[in-house]
Amino acid sequence: MKFFIDTANLDQIREAQDLGVLDGVTTNPSLMAKEGITGDQNVINHYKAICDIVDANVSAEVISTDYESMIKEGEALAKLDPKIVVKIPMIKDGVKAIKYLSSKGIRTNCTLIFSAGQALIAAKAGASYVSPFLGRLDDISTDGFQLIEDIRLIFDNYQYETEILAASVRGPMHIVNCAKLGADVMTGPLSAILALMKHPLTDSGLAQFLADHAKAAGK
Ligand code: E4P
Repeated sequence: MKFFIDTANLDQIREAQDLGVLDGVTTNPSLMAKEGITGDQNVINHYKAICDIVDANVSAEVISTDYESMIKEGEALAKLDPKIVVKIPMIKDGVKAIKYLSSKGIRTNCTLIFSAGQALIAAKAGASYVSPFLGRLDDISTDGFQLIEDIRLIFDNYQYETEILAASVRGPMHIVNCAKLGADVMTGPLSAILALMKHPLTDSGLAQFLADHAKAAGK
């Protein structure tokens, strides 16, 4: 399973990269705004800064919503760095843009997926990734895991190469359940990745080992 971090915060991206388990980054306009990144050139510089930190897979989202502008923006983003994956919203013009960009060899991530039908049409258009938003489905009492399961079944039925990128992940059990269901990738906050390592029995067990070692050594 690939691990992406869902942030535009450079310190958090560096921390996840230093951990040695990071496969990529996802951003969106809200995450960029949260870091105070505004203005076209600043946004571009920020994507470049992210690409300098990680090894691959930096999702950069278009902000246009019509076909012509989306492909123009997508092509410009893709030119910034080979690590860029152009993130396109699941709307009609977005599907057309995914078809065009993938035919040009530009990788795409179809975002804001909330149904299996949306994932199916994005895969047919040639999206490299589809991003079902688990946490936001949870927020409205809907089963996001069932959606991941359904998309996995459909993609396996037809051998679509589109990867399932479980997005809007909020915590460690989201990650574990997505892994059990065969999501190819998850994207979540640094806190969710770090929480995977925590267990109280690990902490108490280690404390006991170190105490026993110290006692035996007469310290
Ligand atoms: C996906 O790529 C999005 O950036 C993200 O996962 C949205 O998550 P949120 O619902 O926590 O905002």
